[in-house]
Amino acid sequence: MIRSVVRGIGAALPRRIMKNADFEGMVETSDEWIAQRTGIRQRHIAADDETTASLGEAAARAALDNAGLTPADIDLIVLATSTPNNTFPATAVEIQNRLGMHHGFAFDMQAVCSGFVYAVTTADLYIRGGLARRVLVIGSETFSRILDWNDRSTCVLFGDGAGALVLEAGEGSGAIADRGVLAASLRSDGVHKDKLFVDGGPSTTGTVGHLRMEGREVFKHAVGMITDVIEATFSQAGITADDLDWFVPHQANKRIIDASAKKLGIAEPKVVVTVDQHGNTSAASVPLALAAAVSDGRIKRGDLVLLEAMGGGFTWGAVLVRW
Ligand code: ACO
Repeated sequence: MIRSVVRGIGAALPRRIMKNADFEGMVETSDEWIAQRTGIRQRHIAADDETTASLGEAAARAALDNAGLTPADIDLIVLATSTPNNTFPATAVEIQNRLGMHHGFAFDMQAVCSGFVYAVTTADLYIRGGLARRVLVIGSETFSRILDWNDRSTCVLFGDGAGALVLEAGEGSGAIADRGVLAASLRSDGVHKDKLFVDGGPSTTGTVGHLRMEGREVFKHAVGMITDVIEATFSQAGITADDLDWFVPHQANKRIIDASAKKLGIAEPKVVVTVDQHGNTSAASVPLALAAAVSDGRIKRGDLVLLEAMGGGFTWGAVLVRW
């Protein structure tokens, strides 16, 4: 059978780093409050010349280099983002053009913080369906552009960045020992829309709007939803938490990550955490965390890796990959 195998990975972060202490004087907060409640110590913030397209392009080029490929080898680009350069065309198409790629096709996926998990699942279906052989899956965000910088309950939580994977069609036997995407489970429920949303849009206000969140409400639902979808993925693959080598969760809050890992029985040394360095970069958080753990040598070929995310909508999902 066809399996979607990871061939390369890359990341890109804006030049400017903003530390927690940099918020003191802007809003009533402190390094201590932010670090204690969220685990965040710093985040990268895009300059005017750094956009979702430029960061996505940089991450894509790094992933292509890592794979030993060029844009000519790619059939499809799937970009997970909630902060596109324009309402349309899709920012994926802009990245396609920036890469000098005038063949194949490209589109955006919008599932907020779950975007990358949705995009990997979608790319896997295109590959296994025979519509593409090699896919660039990118998560790129500039959430700094949609933050209300006067709202201390949200502006301290988010950051900008991008990460990318090259997925390639490979041969598998159908067994759990195969390399590639092995199982996935996706969920959404719009009843939770008002707990995490942007208060603008082309068809309503005609403006871009700002991020609004009832943090406590999101927190309340997060751990249960995350663990449910992971357990569904485990049972699809016929594995338990003990079989995992690495858990790479969405990086929203260290307390949510710790509580989810504890509930699932995933040992702390197997959990990849970058929220301290990047803050919540929405659809870019999982590929940025993956890229960190691959580049420092933790994730190696053959390792069993679980990706997970939960975000606005609500949307949530998990993907199991053998590296
Ligand atoms: N600095 C200081 N005090 C603050 C700040 C701040 N930056 N922000 C809020 N506070 C205050 C509040 O006003 C409140 O004060 P009050 O008690 O006088 O009313 C107090 O701190 C406690 O507020 P809570 O919201 O109860 O704090 P909590 O412990 O829940 O932490 C947080 C807030 C960090 C937002 C947490 O709820 C959280 O992480 N929620 C989940 C967010 C998340 O995971 N989002 C993921 C999806 S993101 C996406 O999809 C785009």
